[in-house]
Amino acid sequence: MNTSQTSSPLAVRDPALTVQLESWKLMGEGVTLSEKKLKDMNGLFADEEARRLMDPEANVYKVQSYMPVAEGTPGGLFFGNTTVQPGKVRDEYFMTRGHIHSKARTAEYYWGIKGEGVLILMDVNRVTWAERVFPGSLHYIAGDVAHRLANSGLVPFTIGACWYSDAGHNYDEIERNGFSARLVEVGGVPKLVEGKL
Ligand code: F6R
Ligand code: MN
Repeated sequence: MNTSQTSSPLAVRDPALTVQLESWKLMGEGVTLSEKKLKDMNGLFADEEARRLMDPEANVYKVQSYMPVAEGTPGGLFFGNTTVQPGKVRDEYFMTRGHIHSKARTAEYYWGIKGEGVLILMDVNRVTWAERVFPGSLHYIAGDVAHRLANSGLVPFTIGACWYSDAGHNYDEIERNGFSARLVEVGGVPKLVEGKL
């Protein structure tokens, strides 16, 4: 090791973070990992009875995040990735909880990395629409638009994300009222259908 690297403020340093180019897996100090299992998804799928009959320990999705400043700090950026496992609760694809950002008008970028899925979006008037996500697809999520990811494929589905450090996450609204449409398999293909099933 070159000792001048650590002792001199003028030394050219290594970056705090690296990303595996194929998988976008983040490596470095301060990278956090959170996992959601079926037991953590109470009341989010249309068929609650079907969910309760499945393995509560089954992994639904995991999120890697890099948050270099404290949550809530204005002007900072957070970076991460989400992997949703393949699977369904009855005919509804495994998905993230979904949220709207707590702070108004804080947009976010998502991009497809591996597998295939759907980004479900809902505006303040509860109008829901969806975008297909695939390796290389890029999605600008406008501020005030609720967002959720669903895996419509047979392999793990990974996306990258970049969002404001003061965006915050409001999960209550979605837990109470859900999205106005759900992504379900109809005749072997993913379809957005309105309302509770
Ligand atoms: C950050 C963001 C993503 C999600 C992640 C998990 O604003 O949109 O990093 O947090 O995809 O989804 P949720 O947060 O809905 O459980
Ligand atoms: Mn978000």
